[in-house]
Amino acid sequence: MREPENTPKPATPTRDRFRSSIGALAATLGSAIGLGNIWKFPSLAGQNGGATFVLLYLLCVLLVGLPVMIAELTVGRRARANAVHAYERLTPGKPWKLIGVAGVASAFMIMSFYTAVAGWVYAYIAKAAAGSLAVKADALGGIFGATVSGNFWPLFWQWVAIGVVGAVVMRGVSGGIERAIKRLMPALLVLLLVCDIRALSLPGAWTGVSYLFAPDFSKVTIGVVLAALGLAFFKLSIGMGAMTTYGSYMDPSENIPKTALRVALADTAVSLLAGLAIFPAVFAFGFQPNAGASLLFITIPAVFASMPFGRVITVVFFTLTAIAATGAMISLMEVVVAWLGERFRLSRTRATLAAMAAMAVVGLPVNLSNGSLAGIKVFGKNLFDLLDYTTSNIMLPVGGLFIALYVGWVWSYPTLRAALSNHEQLNNSRVSSLMHGLLRYVAPAAIAAIFLSCIGLIKV
Ligand code: TRP
Repeated sequence: MREPENTPKPATPTRDRFRSSIGALAATLGSAIGLGNIWKFPSLAGQNGGATFVLLYLLCVLLVGLPVMIAELTVGRRARANAVHAYERLTPGKPWKLIGVAGVASAFMIMSFYTAVAGWVYAYIAKAAAGSLAVKADALGGIFGATVSGNFWPLFWQWVAIGVVGAVVMRGVSGGIERAIKRLMPALLVLLLVCDIRALSLPGAWTGVSYLFAPDFSKVTIGVVLAALGLAFFKLSIGMGAMTTYGSYMDPSENIPKTALRVALADTAVSLLAGLAIFPAVFAFGFQPNAGASLLFITIPAVFASMPFGRVITVVFFTLTAIAATGAMISLMEVVVAWLGERFRLSRTRATLAAMAAMAVVGLPVNLSNGSLAGIKVFGKNLFDLLDYTTSNIMLPVGGLFIALYVGWVWSYPTLRAALSNHEQLNNSRVSSLMHGLLRYVAPAAIAAIFLSCIGLIKV
């Protein structure tokens, strides 16, 4: 069954768009850059063989992540509709819209824990500014525990995060999202460079650099390859509909493959710069480069507290982390708001308020599962870990698999080529045939492998 070759009219005549190519690029990059860059990437790279992991990650990004991102953006732009309606409009009466339905569900699931972490980050800006993080390293563990486990403050900060994101999304695609992110991205970069310069000028910084970049091929196992692939999904915000939604706001003249390539490269650069801001300092002050939340919320403040200008740098660092997390959350909320608005014909204000309320409700038990609801365990995990695990390891890879299959097999090659070359306005024929092959064979095979390993059907 072939879908109609003509691009359908927009879902609503007044549908908003990104105003400029640079705005579209900034928003997409703003979605990709997030908490994933600041602790996931550096800690995984450090544990899994440094430069070899970085290389594997780049391969995963180029061979799987980038094709899926291009596919998603293209689906969105052709359909000019939200993540659910996009598939409905391009292939009416077929079950492909379930990709979008699962995507909206994923947006809620990711937001439920992501807003909690973003809330901690916001709280840490306030704490750092007040000087209350400038304490002995062992006291920081207690501060972190208190930050995540109360019954009021974690929720308060989560609601602040939801409120900030909602305030931007409510103002619309061009007037809210595009405008805000275009200002925030340069700020993020400047703040990150400040931290890099400070960290790299510390005595003994080189140990940290080599931790991140010394290649260690002995650490490469299939498990490491799969970790790199999973990270590529989470990092690039693919597999659920965020890119479909943003693609639907892109101009017909936008060069999607080029934009996606720039986003992937810039996002990777930010990950590397984050690693260079973190590890030199960690090693210079004799801390352990251990992974995850404790690196971001305990080690970092401890390290920064013990160096000159530490308080300022701590504020700077958590501010840039908050910016990154906020841009990512905006794209997650927009998936829901676009769908609610177009499905139920709600005004943007109402759709955003509904999404904010729903996210606060879903986020509440997930947030409290680090404290008073810690006793609730599903498959041995508290709600927070359960949602983190389910989205990254199951929902996103499965979503990405079907997106690749959809564009690789359901679309005819001429359709894909017309979509990627803007109807032969761009000379993208080599890119198109490359993407066709990657989406048809390489990406589905690789994603199937990661998925099977995550549910334990492939032992690695
Ligand atoms: N990419 C973001 C990060 O690295 C997180 C994110 C935002 C995301 N939107 C997404 C992940 C959509 C998956 C799907 O922090």
